[in-house]
Amino acid sequence: MTDPASHRRTAAVIPAAGRGVRLGPGAPKALRALGGTPMLIHAVRAMAASRAVSLVVVVAPPDGAPQVKILLDEHALPERTDYLVVPGGETRQESVRLGVDALPEDITDVLVHDAARPLVPVETVDAVIEAVRDGAPAVVPALPVADTVKQVEPRGKGEPEPVVATPERALLRAVQTPQGFDRETLERAHRTVTAVGEGATDCAGMVERLGAPVVVVPGHEEAFKVTRPLDLVLAEAVLARRRANDGF
Ligand code: CTP
Ligand code: MG
Repeated sequence: MTDPASHRRTAAVIPAAGRGVRLGPGAPKALRALGGTPMLIHAVRAMAASRAVSLVVVVAPPDGAPQVKILLDEHALPERTDYLVVPGGETRQESVRLGVDALPEDITDVLVHDAARPLVPVETVDAVIEAVRDGAPAVVPALPVADTVKQVEPRGKGEPEPVVATPERALLRAVQTPQGFDRETLERAHRTVTAVGEGATDCAGMVERLGAPVVVVPGHEEAFKVTRPLDLVLAEAVLARRRANDGF
């Protein structure tokens, strides 16, 4: 019998075209340094660390594709991993679509991974890929939430906001990336679900709207998203801890 995994080829699309407004002024977020290396390079290496990933597609800031190409040429990836750089769009959803449009025909499975999650461990990447190869059309890594979450009626800045509901915390999960998809499902979601406002911040949400099943696998603390300045402090601390542990 042939191994059903043998004809699967997995690519990772890395949306890295955002500005990083919440991080404050400076270079586009994906190009900011973490432990002396651009966040994007950490994210690319995190995907390339999985033996199953044969191609990484980086979606660069719209005017930054040549610079990102140079950056990737300078930082060695494993022999087995190819990479491509394409310019991104106005929203994450558009950037992901541009990355997916650039995939070669032989790719069957797609990971979508935020450049802003530079420290995701390879075990999480592999768990997502495995669940897709086992037949799930869409897979998201996620963790239980620590805070209680309230739904509110948004009001102007500083104005008290009425609470509408308190979802039961035990039923909630905070989702991370890489999210994994059967390619056909992800492409159908991008063809079918039209962007409203800022577009979808989560590809799996688009698949849900198709009515296709989405499953959650365990995420990882170190897969957190660098969003605000304090997240950079945490990311530097995680890197320092890794370096200390590697020293032993
Ligand atoms: N992203 C993208 N194209 C966009 C907007 C976002 O590729 N037009 C990417 C970001 O580069 C990031 C990921 O989507 O890797 C998650 O987005 P987020 O954390 O919101 O990053 P930014 O949009 O850059 O940050 P901010 O919202 O604070 O400006
Ligand atoms: Mg954003």
